[in-house]
Amino acid sequence: RQNIEVTCFKEANEKALDLLTKGVTSLGFIIKGDEVNAENIATLLNGICPEATELNSNTCNCKAEKLIGILEYILKEAAFQKDLAGKKLLVTAGPTQEAIDPVRCLTNHSSGKMGYAIAKMAMLRGAEVTLVSGPTAIEPPLFVKVVPVTSARDMFEAVTGLSDEQDIIIKAAAVADYRPKQVSEDKVKKKDDQAFIELERTDDILKYLGQHKKQGQFLCGFSMETRDMIRNSRAKLEKKNLDMVAANNLKVEGAGFQGDTNVLTLITQDEE
Ligand code: CTP
Repeated sequence: RQNIEVTCFKEANEKALDLLTKGVTSLGFIIKGDEVNAENIATLLNGICPEATELNSNTCNCKAEKLIGILEYILKEAAFQKDLAGKKLLVTAGPTQEAIDPVRCLTNHSSGKMGYAIAKMAMLRGAEVTLVSGPTAIEPPLFVKVVPVTSARDMFEAVTGLSDEQDIIIKAAAVADYRPKQVSEDKVKKKDDQAFIELERTDDILKYLGQHKKQGQFLCGFSMETRDMIRNSRAKLEKKNLDMVAANNLKVEGAGFQGDTNVLTLITQDEE
């Protein structure tokens, strides 16, 4: 935890950003300056987390753990050009879980970090963001509408229910391509011999969106490959009627599941 002294939003933003990039995640603000300025900042603090503010003339000490929301609010207001203002953007993230029985499911290693990062950046750039997320262990960004889902079918319903009103849709989720054909109501008991699970295809949400794309809507899919990345990803662009594919090769260092970085090639009709 680190306390920072601030006299204005701009300074709070710059110092907070600097500390964020150095890995500090918990911040306290001590507001300095004239009374009007202190009151302005205190109003902001009160708006975000009323219980955090103890205004004492022109100095305000706030509990650090309460302040992440304030920091996020300051970032939202001040950090980036609002070049997506007025745009509605839907992003999907995380894995899906396809139930086998009440205990077990089929899923994948997606952490959700990619989609959550996209949602946050779009929010900071002024978009009205909806994040449709499979089960993840990460905190969703503030100021984003979160729609939690579990299975590919849930995600299909959530996304297609919202897709018509979106200007931009980014499908970063790792949606299961198959689900168990039968879901057992009771826990499946083990036997001594081999076991088999019959699988059926899930709906391809992205393909559906490509087939029902609204005039002017921008549709971006993700493509994770281990070989022939460009060729395979370009095929997805065509097949699913996309405007862009964000392609990544699982085997490239810095890319792949669970990491904090990715190495992406953005592919459009004319460019890559
Ligand atoms: N996708 C989807 N619905 C599915 C499966 C995938 O919307 N049922 C989306 C993902 O969110 C991602 C893109 O489709 O944006 C990935 O394309 P896909 O052809 O499914 O890639 P792979 O599954 O990696 O392709 P393949 O199995 O052919 O290697």
